[in-house]
Amino acid sequence: MKKKILVIPGDGIGQEVTSCAKAVLEQIAAEKGYTFTFDEALMGHAAIEATGDPLPAATLDKAKASDAILFGAVGHAKYDNDPTLKVRPENGLLAIRKGLGLYANLRPIVLFEELLDASSIKADVLKGTDILFFRELTGDAYFGEKIRTADYSSDLMIYHRFEVERIAVKAFEAARSRRKKLCSVDKANVLESSRLWRNVVQEVAAHYPDVETTHLFADTAAMQLIKNPRQFDVILTTNIFGDLLTDEASQIAGSMGMLASASVGDGAGFYEPVHGSAYDIAGQNKANPLAAILSAALMLDISFGMKAEANHILQAVKQVLKDGWRTGDIASAATDKSRILGTKEMGEQVLQMIRASAVSKQEQLQN
Ligand code: IPM
Ligand code: MG
Repeated sequence: MKKKILVIPGDGIGQEVTSCAKAVLEQIAAEKGYTFTFDEALMGHAAIEATGDPLPAATLDKAKASDAILFGAVGHAKYDNDPTLKVRPENGLLAIRKGLGLYANLRPIVLFEELLDASSIKADVLKGTDILFFRELTGDAYFGEKIRTADYSSDLMIYHRFEVERIAVKAFEAARSRRKKLCSVDKANVLESSRLWRNVVQEVAAHYPDVETTHLFADTAAMQLIKNPRQFDVILTTNIFGDLLTDEASQIAGSMGMLASASVGDGAGFYEPVHGSAYDIAGQNKANPLAAILSAALMLDISFGMKAEANHILQAVKQVLKDGWRTGDIASAATDKSRILGTKEMGEQVLQMIRASAVSKQEQLQN
């Protein structure tokens, strides 16, 4: 099995976390005798500095020619407090999402039991939560016409029927293979684009009578996510509401550092941790690499159909957490301080666990 993987570390902690995830992919390939070849490309602030463009043509070309892309993060302090800058790192990420037709962003909210005490939400509220977000990724106010003068600004919030339909179908299919519940989140009491969204979701729902479909307004959904997260199975939502609600939902998983995501659509899949570039801790070996590692597992599962290998990574992460290892963001008052690791060391723990479990599996087969 041969696969071409493009790594785009981007900015901030992107380099540190993607190198851990890449090492995990290399380990899986070595174990299974697969050939994964890696290439690297620039995006975001790093690309602006080198070429003036947050998404150089060479990066998009390489992405189009690869089987999957592993991405880190984009963003830099320089732009955050200067709204006048026209060329921005985030534009690189938006342009590659559009350029690769990545219209569906899957964000699983997976709760590791071991991290129940890392969340600011009560453990008995969280227990048993398992949500899969489908965030639309190439429409909405993100991509509508933008106008800015000294005294006036506008971002057009646009949705076409086909854009809603294609992601709704994906989300309903996923719900069918899970607990058969889908909640669509919009703001149809106020927004015209949400009224189209709701109409189309209702039409698609008619083809899935076995899936229990509900609709919530985004503000109510934000509240219900914290009040009773267990009620949700698949959540289908727009680009902007999905952006907000998944950051909120990261607190269910304990930290942004735990949330993986997969962006899929017309071509190669794009795998990215949900967290940002966290440039305040960049280069300090403090970032949690687990979101990037879990994103690599999603790549194996979704793009390459390697379910067993993806599960192997997931189980290794679980065991490392069970053994008490933590990065700073998921440590709690109960954590043994000597078990708090840096980025590299956490990546190394996961690698060792993958190796150890592969060996023990082989031993089981031999006996
Ligand atoms: C995300 C991020 C991006 C987004 C930014 C970096 C452009 O917040 O992937 O959630 O808003 O989509
Ligand atoms: Mg976001």
